Amino acid sequence: ARVAVVVVAAGSGTRLQAAAPKAFVGIDAHSLLAHALRGVLAVPRAQVVVVAPAGREDQARTEAEASGAAARVSVVTGGATRQASVRAGLSAVWSDVEVVLVHDAARALTPPEVFTRVIAAVRAGAPGVLPVLPVVDTIKRVDADFVVTGVDRSDLARAQTPQGFARDILDAAYRSADREYTDDAALVAAAGHRIQTVPGDERAFKITGPADLERARALVAGAPM
Ligand code: C5P
Repeated sequence: ARVAVVVVAAGSGTRLQAAAPKAFVGIDAHSLLAHALRGVLAVPRAQVVVVAPAGREDQARTEAEASGAAARVSVVTGGATRQASVRAGLSAVWSDVEVVLVHDAARALTPPEVFTRVIAAVRAGAPGVLPVLPVVDTIKRVDADFVVTGVDRSDLARAQTPQGFARDILDAAYRSADREYTDDAALVAAAGHRIQTVPGDERAFKITGPADLERARALVAGAPM
């Protein structure tokens, strides 16, 4: 079954305090998007749909060409929310695709093994697959300046991407979604499907603020592209 990976890269990245939209900020000589594409393109033969900020489509195409796999990369324009951007990406998925992964470009250093685990679980029959990591901090429910209660972390997990789905299930869930969900797994769960977990990876952290960018720079300096 053919795989497509929708890479959402249309966020503004205001929390990064950079001049360019987040996907085009440099980690080293290469942008977040370039690094994200390197991981995604390790999935053999997969179609890759890059969802770019409006006005930055050509820049995204240039990154795709530099990756050396432009023939299997499509670029579409994103929307005002992540969910709208994913929806735009899904509209460009080839008709013969049966497994769709949705991935944040902001998780630019996600290693290929995570893609492999997610795809294998979807191929084995899971309607939806979510990479997760354990919660290591003690978690508190708070109300303004006071602690309300502790929360048992043993049944909590940190959700990452790529999240993978059977294509028909993801398309139908997006058609029926009537509000914004925090991620694709939540949207598909709301449509009545069980989401299976697989191990995530610390390197799949989301580059959100300046400290995350520093972490990404340190990692890449240790293992250049
Ligand atoms: O804003 P946040 O960090 O949750 O964004 C996660 C991913 O979703 C990023 O890769 C970002 O580029 C993407 N996104 C998008 N369109 C939006 C908002 C976010 O493609 N409107």
